Amino acid sequence: MKKLVLTGAAGRLGSYLREPLCDMAETLVSTDIADNVGNTYKNETYVKADLANLEQISAVLEGADMVVHFGAIGDEAPFSNILQSNIVGAYNVWEAARQHQLRRVVYASSIHAVGMHPRMERIGTDVAHKPDTFYGLAKCFAEDLGSLYWDKFQLESVCLRILSCAQVTSARALGSWLSYDDLIQLVERSIDTPTTGFSVVYGVSDNDRSPVDNTNAQFLGYRPKDNAEQFAKEILAKEPLQNLNDPTFLYHGGPFAAVTPGDSGLAHMDIVQDAKKT
Ligand SMILES: NC(=O)c1ccc[n+]([C@@H]2O[C@H](COP(=O)([O-])OP(=O)(O)OC[C@H]3O[C@@H](n4cnc5c(N)ncnc54)[C@H](O)[C@@H]3O)[C@@H](O)[C@H]2O)c1
Repeated sequence: MKKLVLTGAAGRLGSYLREPLCDMAETLVSTDIADNVGNTYKNETYVKADLANLEQISAVLEGADMVVHFGAIGDEAPFSNILQSNIVGAYNVWEAARQHQLRRVVYASSIHAVGMHPRMERIGTDVAHKPDTFYGLAKCFAEDLGSLYWDKFQLESVCLRILSCAQVTSARALGSWLSYDDLIQLVERSIDTPTTGFSVVYGVSDNDRSPVDNTNAQFLGYRPKDNAEQFAKEILAKEPLQNLNDPTFLYHGGPFAAVTPGDSGLAHMDIVQDAKKT
């Protein structure tokens, strides 16, 4: 591959993807709205661009083979903010990819696209959209956009419904954890699988307590190596008994299922900001 683009490159997940993605193309163009991403890797260049600006995104995607689209507001936020970065931003990425005849969009979707499904139901990738927030609604929009652009323009998309890619700090994460190594493997397989069409898979490690059925991901050759069970004893010892009336524990979306639309979900999660340094 000649040119690969990574959006959201200054973000936490982007920080782990940049180095391995450099090995998959002659040039990795990393982009974000941030001023910089620190030191760049050998065949990486950085371009500042706003996802909400089609002209800027189109210029970044020109000549690329694929785009790994991880840029977004990564939390619930007021609708006007989600509209620009996550909804208009998604349109701009798929539309620029179409204009420049890219082969594929690998997209960071989220469990929050289906977050209001009851947690006691083990869900596959074929369940109906059931967003838990405006953030989740934007993920539904982007997945459907990927479906539309596949049907109309043969632009492939792999939508990775990531559950929780962060250090395990809660009982919920014993099921929802996606380790950084498994994230990298999942993105690599989403890029090197010859044909994907429009696909939706879950981004989750091989957790004993996984709440989703990810057999759909097998065709990618994704074989997660990590299992959050290694943290179970320590986490469960300090987790209080769960209140059965609290949506946090009843729905797949966890804390996002409990917040009022517009209010932060991450504020109710103990996310360790352990971005990889360059
Ligand atoms: N971390 C998780 O557990 C998780 C779970 C599900 C989905 N996701 C998705 O994965 C992606 C990355 O998540 P993260 O945890 O690294 O989030 P993050 O907030 O650390 O990174 C997102 C990046 O997107 C950039 N961005 C936001 N608005 C932009 C705009 N208008 N133009 C250009 N860049 C913009 C931000 O500057 C940031 O660097 C996001 O799409 C998120 O929704 C993450």
